[in-house]
Order: sequence, then structure tokens, then C-alpha cells
Amino acid sequence: MLKPDEIPAHIGARRKIMEETILTPKKKKLAHPAAKSPRIFADTGSIDEIKPLFEAGIVNGVTTNPTLMKKAGATSLKQAQKMMKEIVKLLDPYPVSLELTELTKDKMIKQAEKLAAYGPNVVIKVPIGGYRAIDPSYDEHTGLKVLHALWEKDIKTNATLIFNSTQALFAARAGASYVSPFLGRVADYMYKHDEAERDMGNSLYFVEDHRGARENTRLHNTGYVAAGGERKDSGIRLIHEISVIFSNYKIKTEILAASFRNDVQVAEGLLCGADILTVPAPILMRVASHPLTDEGMKAFVEDGKAFES
Ligand code: G3P
Repeated sequence: MLKPDEIPAHIGARRKIMEETILTPKKKKLAHPAAKSPRIFADTGSIDEIKPLFEAGIVNGVTTNPTLMKKAGATSLKQAQKMMKEIVKLLDPYPVSLELTELTKDKMIKQAEKLAAYGPNVVIKVPIGGYRAIDPSYDEHTGLKVLHALWEKDIKTNATLIFNSTQALFAARAGASYVSPFLGRVADYMYKHDEAERDMGNSLYFVEDHRGARENTRLHNTGYVAAGGERKDSGIRLIHEISVIFSNYKIKTEILAASFRNDVQVAEGLLCGADILTVPAPILMRVASHPLTDEGMKAFVEDGKAFES
């Protein structure tokens, strides 16, 4: 976990420029106390996972991608479209990010317009790059061009697969409403590639039982280690950097931290200046409770019996 003196000081300045995300109705006397707090979205394509979290007021937005739609059970385009429409309808007016699967500019814009017609709360997720990795003849800057074209058409976008702060700035300048830095994948990368240094205490954090963490066991909480020594890099640093840049230049594009692996990353994402955290449902279910809360509640109920009439 971050130490108190490592918590960035710029966040207050950023909050000042951001819109309120919980509006207090005019006739209410008591203004909402958390009007500018970070929002929590569910990172899933499964409406069954979204419903309880949405109804409990834990999430007020959803992000999906082709991998998540497949994981949620979509086996055809038609099925995926049906599932996406259901999520959009359930969440209205809260944002739902739907990802483009076309790879060339004109086709992507057409697909974006179709998806945007699912509802006024649709946000189009546009991969920032990687086009040349799919086919060397593709234009690597397609994502930026599409982001800009959709901004011109007043369609909200979420630039995805962000792994450095420059990509985030470019996406914001192209007109993206949101940028999605994948902090968990940065941490995964560190875990895989940094073993020697990790043993010397140079890496930021690592998950001992990496697969266990992703499979929603409680095990990872004890296996998650804050290594001593110098911080080198991590997904959290990525969020921090973007947050400082966006804050300094009054950029209103929202930082939608994504690809969470565990509870500690969620807390750190909040501390580091993410505007929104999109979190898998199992982690959200877990962070909304705590064993000591359970224990305390049992004691209160037990002691309260003395006052029963
Ligand atoms: O929102 C992006 C996220 O779904 C990517 O997560 O777990 O595939 O790295 P992951």
C-alpha cells in the first residue's frame, strides 16, 4: 500500500475541474457529500454479474470488451449484440463502454455509429494502437483518427489499451472522453519480467499466487507483497503520471483505471488519482465487505439483544 507521504497532492486540483457525478436535486437541502468522488464501474460482459452491483448502488457504469463478452457466454455476433443491448438498457443513463472490433477507419466509424444507436449512454471503446501488430499494412494511428472523427460526431469514446502517459495525452487531444490505462497488465508484466530485481526488493508489488488472485480466492491477500526498496514502475505509477499531466493541463478526459487484479490495487487506484475504477465483479463483491465488519456486526447484534422488548 502507498505510504501517506506518497499520496499525490495534485488530486485536489484535479477534482476542482471535474464535473459532479452525483447531482443533488434542487429542492434537496442536504447536498450529496460525495458529488465529485471517483466512480466505480463493473468490468464485465455479464448482466448477471452487473445486476446485483448496480442495484446495490456499488457501480454506475460498465466496461466491456470482446474478451469479456466471450467470457460472459457470447458465441456469435448476434448473441453479443443482444447482450450488449441488455446491459445498455439496464444501465441507462450511466455509461457503458462497447468496444469496436473493426480495424480500419471507415468501418470502425460505421460500427461505432451502429453501437451508439443502442442507447444515449453508449461509449465507444477504441483501441489506441496495435493495428500494425495485427497486419503490417494497417495504419498504426487508426485509433487516434477514429477517436477524433467520433469526437467530431459528438460520440463519446474510451481510448483503451493505454500503457503510457503519452498515449493517454494523445487520446485526450484526439477528443477521447475517457482513457483506460491497464494497470493490472503492467503489474502482470512486472511480475513476469522482473524476477531477478524483484528478489532484490526492487519491484513494486507482486502477487504470489497469481492465478489464484484472478480466480477470486482470498489467498492473494496474504500473497500480495509490498516489496521494500525503490519503486521502479507499476500500473499505479502509470495512473499517477496520467493524473498529474491531466491535472496540470486541466484535461477533463476521465482516467478510467482498468484491469484490476486484487483489492490492494483498487485502494491504490483511488489514492493515485483515477477518476473511475473499472473492476471485475468478484473483486467488487469482496471489497464491499470485510471479515472484521462481519465480526463487529455479529457482536453488535448479540449485545443489542439485551435491549429487545
Ligand atoms: O477494461 C479492460 C480490462 O477488461 C482488461 O482486463 O484482465 O484482460 O487485463 P484484463
